[in-house]
Amino acid sequence: MKNPMSPTLFSLVHALLLIIFSLFIHCASVQSDATLIEYICKKTPNYTLCVSFLYTYPESATADVKGLAVMMVRIVQAKAIMTLNKIKELLESSPELMLPLFYCAKKYNAILRADIPEAIEALDKGFYKFSKAGTDDAATEAKLCEQNFHGKSPLTYMNSVVHDTSAVASAIVQILL
Ligand SMILES: *[C@@H]1O[C@H](CO)[C@@H](O)[C@H](O)[C@H]1NC(C)=O
Repeated sequence: MKNPMSPTLFSLVHALLLIIFSLFIHCASVQSDATLIEYICKKTPNYTLCVSFLYTYPESATADVKGLAVMMVRIVQAKAIMTLNKIKELLESSPELMLPLFYCAKKYNAILRADIPEAIEALDKGFYKFSKAGTDDAATEAKLCEQNFHGKSPLTYMNSVVHDTSAVASAIVQILL
């Protein structure tokens, strides 16, 4: 009687099935991670910003809630550094705005030297209340900077980004509380 399937063909089919199976598992896990980011971001005040910034980090695909919180705080940090650099540029180009710009420089130094390190260290140690306080303070500092220009702010966009990313980070930390 003829063998219905030669051993080589059998192992080929076997290998193919294994590949299909592992691809399936891979897709299923990517699917569930996308769902975690979307689930988390729906609990924040700015879903679009939350999802689009987190997706720029490849590590977000495998991160847990705490990991996503750390990433969001890092995003606040990056945006705050950009804003402080912009403030330094404006101090040279717009001396008439020196006073409100100095005020903002103080606020952004507080974000970068106190609020962000506090938020990250507290996340690391599991002191989520302190971490939330850090992100809330960062949102407040950005708002204070903006308000102090009394309507003629050259930093409106950057202040909103820092405020909104901080508020999103705060909401993610809130989930851990
Ligand atoms: C989300 O954040 C972006 C960037 O700061 C802002 O332009 C947009 O208006 C925000 N959306 C909401 C619903 O707050």
